[in-house]
Amino acid sequence: NCGACTVVMDGLAVQSCDMPMWGVAGRSLSTPEQLAGDPVGAVVLDAFLELQAAQCGYCINGIMMSVTALLHRTTSPTPAQLQDTLHRHLCRCGAHARILRAIEAAAARLREEASA
Ligand code: FES
Repeated sequence: NCGACTVVMDGLAVQSCDMPMWGVAGRSLSTPEQLAGDPVGAVVLDAFLELQAAQCGYCINGIMMSVTALLHRTTSPTPAQLQDTLHRHLCRCGAHARILRAIEAAAARLREEASA
């Protein structure tokens, strides 16, 4: 229920603890180790690092995976899309404000890149 194990499967964020092995056969999977090599994931990673959007960091891998999946779909997420993206992630440290600032920074950079 914490969301820390989130991976991206066929473009959608899924919690790997909920996913049986037979459910991933033949699917495209991305894990946090691949964020830096993904054009959107790299921007998300940079924004979270620059804004220090974490305290203990337990939740951050999963959140960055969900945010990367979201920003692949839209670089102008609505509040409802953000809420839907983050609702299965627990951050017990209370880093929520910094996390939201990092998401907005990443989205803004991706919009800038798209318009350049
Ligand atoms: Fe510690 Fe989110 S930064 S749980």
